Amino acid sequence: MKANNLACPIDGQPLALEQRQLSCAQGHSFDLARQGYVNLLPVQHKRSKNPGDSKEMVMARQRFLNTGLYAPVAQCLSEMLRTNIGPGREHCVLDAGCGEGYYLDYALHYLEEHFDLADLSFIGLDISKEAIFEAAKRNKIISWLVGTNRQPPIIAGSVDTIVCVFGFHSFQGFHKIMRLGGKLILVEPGLDHLQELREVTYSEVKKSAPTNLDEAFAAGFTLIEEKVLRFKTESIKNQPLNDLLMMTPHFFRASKEGKMAAANLNELVLTVDMVFRTLEKTGLTDEGVEKI
Ligand SMILES: C[S@@+](CC[C@H](N)C(=O)[O-])C[C@H]1O[C@@H](n2cnc3c(N)ncnc32)[C@H](O)[C@@H]1O
Repeated sequence: MKANNLACPIDGQPLALEQRQLSCAQGHSFDLARQGYVNLLPVQHKRSKNPGDSKEMVMARQRFLNTGLYAPVAQCLSEMLRTNIGPGREHCVLDAGCGEGYYLDYALHYLEEHFDLADLSFIGLDISKEAIFEAAKRNKIISWLVGTNRQPPIIAGSVDTIVCVFGFHSFQGFHKIMRLGGKLILVEPGLDHLQELREVTYSEVKKSAPTNLDEAFAAGFTLIEEKVLRFKTESIKNQPLNDLLMMTPHFFRASKEGKMAAANLNELVLTVDMVFRTLEKTGLTDEGVEKI
């Protein structure tokens, strides 16, 4: 486990790694799993027995992302990360709600061509144990954690960049662990995202806008950049189409007839419409003094 800024999820004290165990000064300890990840989600932070994405959803997402159809999204995100990282300085990147690790793994391979990996630390955090189990198989350099974005088990002020791709965001949780001036990159669906699939699964297609940022502004973030990535995919066959449906909220929202219609599709060309917004942590420091 390369990350040296992990915090005890029970009392927030720094965690130190000894042998295959992370412990805090109060004696709370967490074993490294054989696969290399660590579970930092205490039962009191759980709202259900198995929170987050199920095994079935994780495997569908992994199959779909491995087709490379969303590689332009990963590429765009990686290029944005590159512009945030100063050469020769240590930089910690957190993927909050990382799923089975596709985007962070892609970014690491992209960034290692431009920076010395010794200066970079990558943390992937997800509340789903099933997702982190798969992520830990994908990449052995990244520090993979089971935990919640509401109370990320990371030392306050120690993260330089957070990415949150279709993730569950907690602006207060993110603000606490970021350094002043750190960046939060939110990637969310735009109005026309997967329009063609939604036309098949819903009798009436509603357009929903990306998250309103008022909560982020109240937590102490400022919006500094917004950009859109739009492209048409190649023709997608039945299996990846159904994997895609399974990994989106449309699977749960669609009617039985809508799901049947999608299951019977032979192929479809889709519009990918993603919004990338960069927010900066500004305002008071955690001590309540300095401003930038
Ligand atoms: C739509 S998926 C996106 C996964 C990944 N970012 C991707 O795009 O491939 C949302 C992820 O957020 C995770 N999640 C849900 N609630 C969470 C929380 N409170 N803290 C951390 N992760 C959470 C889910 O388990 C799931 O893996």
